[in-house]
Amino acid sequence: MERRIQLRDELLLQHPYLLFLLVVIGFLVMDPFDLSPVGGLDFRPVRNHVAPYNQVMESWPRDNRSRLGQGNLEFVDEIFGPESLEFDRWGRGPYTGLADGRIVRWMGKDVGWETFALVTHNWTEKLCVKGKDSTTSKQWKVEQQCGRPLGLRFDKQTGNLYIADSYYGLLVVRPEGGIATPLSTEVEGKPILFANDLDIHRNGSIFFTDTSKRYNRVNHFFILLEGDSSGRLLRYDPPTGTTHVVLEGLAFPNGVQLSKDHNFLLYTETTNCRLMKYWLEGPKSGSIELVANLPGFPDNVRLNEKGEFWVAIDCCRTKIQETLIQNPWMRNIYFRLPIPMRYLARMVGMKMYTVISLFNEKGEILDVLEDRKGKVMKLVSEVRELNGKLWIGTVAHNHIATINYP
Ligand SMILES: *[C@@H]1O[C@H](CO)[C@@H](O)[C@H](O)[C@H]1NC(C)=O
Ligand SMILES: *[C@@H]1O[C@H](CO)[C@@H](O)[C@H](O)[C@H]1NC(C)=O
Ligand SMILES: *[C@@H]1O[C@H](CO)[C@@H](O)[C@H](O)[C@H]1NC(C)=O
Repeated sequence: MERRIQLRDELLLQHPYLLFLLVVIGFLVMDPFDLSPVGGLDFRPVRNHVAPYNQVMESWPRDNRSRLGQGNLEFVDEIFGPESLEFDRWGRGPYTGLADGRIVRWMGKDVGWETFALVTHNWTEKLCVKGKDSTTSKQWKVEQQCGRPLGLRFDKQTGNLYIADSYYGLLVVRPEGGIATPLSTEVEGKPILFANDLDIHRNGSIFFTDTSKRYNRVNHFFILLEGDSSGRLLRYDPPTGTTHVVLEGLAFPNGVQLSKDHNFLLYTETTNCRLMKYWLEGPKSGSIELVANLPGFPDNVRLNEKGEFWVAIDCCRTKIQETLIQNPWMRNIYFRLPIPMRYLARMVGMKMYTVISLFNEKGEILDVLEDRKGKVMKLVSEVRELNGKLWIGTVAHNHIATINYP
């Protein structure tokens, strides 16, 4: 033992550059001036159980024609970060939540886009509206005040619109719009930090995801980096006005979708790159099951009229990402380097493209559409199939993509 230490010391002394390098790296990793992306945060990377990429790709169909690349971009620079797309019972829409906190709807060419609802009385045009900059970091400072509506669902019976807002929790607004009423902003006595998506059970219960107990939406990248698994599936119970924890310990729970006959629901776990099932009825009631490991990071899930599920995926994991996912200590060092996150992320090879896939109730893949060159969409959040057309939302860009389907 002693001899080994001695040897190491000698080695270092004989190689002063090596010693210097170690000291510099040590200093950087300690990040005394909080210059790194995680500076000032209680960053605690953990290991995640993500299926190896090569294994997933063995059975994952490819879209060699890159069909999604033939889609159209609509409403370019007219709407900002439309994540979720919804249509009302008269078929009007899309309705969508924007990065500036508004919920807007398309009323046809003559009227155009109109503001339909807001999630807070505090919203003002002066404070919140930043146009094309709404989807950039310029919005981050005011996002918490202005709101960030992500998941939208109409109750087809009443015409009320339910909203999952990152900051304002679960809300509802009447069919004529206006300021939404909060339904659920806390659970077990603590505020909900990051409501993300919802679906409405036929008995009135509302299932919604709460992505993390530790990070809000502006800091969502750290949930991925850290592997934070404090996310939950919640249920709001209208008769009692109470909110219940259905599932906890989830890694970035994101989209949620009930099956056609409501005997199960699907949810995505973004960090773990997978699609999960939670049984509500039958012999397996209350249990969860893996539906599919995915090649990239999933967002929302939406049902089509046949009872099949569209999943929006940001693709694909790279080798370096995979190594980082499996080795928390590497993430601990890497993301403590005092280099801006965008460079660190670029070096990890985050050149994403979009993949959308259609699953049946059994979890079999029915179709996969890709835009491998990222021509039409660089990031997808949700796919809605309606009247022979797919409507595709994106939380990070200023347009909606459409493509005829099938
Ligand atoms: C797509 O391309 C891959 C290799 O590039 C090939 O293995 C596969 O068979 C092709 N699929 C189809 C449907 O043509
Ligand atoms: C809304 O504005 C009021 C008055 O300025 C302030 O007290 C309150 O904290 C604000 N609410 C939020 C959620 O920002
Ligand atoms: C509605 O259904 C959900 C899911 O099965 C269940 O948890 C909840 O208790 C039901 N609510 C009522 C009021 O029956």
